[in-house]
Amino acid sequence: MVELAFSILAADFAHLADEVATAERGGGTIVHVDVMDGHFVPTISFGPPVVKSLRAATKLPLDCHLMVDNPDALIADLAAAGANMISVHQEVCRHLHRTLQQIERHGMLPAVVINPATPVDTLIEVLPMVHHVLIMSVNPGYGGQKFLPLALEKIAYLKEIRHEMGLNFRIEVDGGVAHDTVGLVVESGADMLVAGSAIFSPGKTEQNAVEFLKLARAAEEAAKQEFIEQE
Ligand code: DX5
Ligand code: ZN
Repeated sequence: MVELAFSILAADFAHLADEVATAERGGGTIVHVDVMDGHFVPTISFGPPVVKSLRAATKLPLDCHLMVDNPDALIADLAAAGANMISVHQEVCRHLHRTLQQIERHGMLPAVVINPATPVDTLIEVLPMVHHVLIMSVNPGYGGQKFLPLALEKIAYLKEIRHEMGLNFRIEVDGGVAHDTVGLVVESGADMLVAGSAIFSPGKTEQNAVEFLKLARAAEEAAKQEFIEQE
């Protein structure tokens, strides 16, 4: 079942609890938290203290996407703050396997992220240990960027590999996923859909989420139908 992981990077930071509640009313089921350090990406966003406040404000799972140079240094603090899922960039992890183990040891679900220029094949060895793989469909750092279509092939290829390896990790996609791109993204095989600017908009957030999920579910249904017809 496809899920909307709404990215609070596009929300009003002065009213985070209300923004989360509104997106949840629209059908969002995961809070996507973009942690940025000003080094791995040029921007700075938020870290464990904000995660702790969010934990007190919502029961939804907190999916932390670490866009930082040294993710290992944040794992313990994010666990203590109440994070549920942590995704780390393959590009910064010198010991990716160990970092994923650490996340799991801290009681959270481990995930790995790749930038648009990073091939899916670099992940083969760690696929059995992840809860999900996050395919970036923009270069990370900012919300509101244009979706890069090269992500679609990577999603479809990853889905194929998952089948071949007999695994069941989920496939998340992040960046430029909006009402005009979500159909293709779901048809390619993604089932955790990160969306920020397509969801948060004063007075329209709930409706945006409802419409976004409607399109996502229609694409999911169409893909299932196509699969049945091919069998
Ligand atoms: C980008 C972040 C995204 C961002 C997505 O670096 O990882 O999660 O919030 O924003 P939109 O949905 O506006 O592309
Ligand atoms: Zn993100």
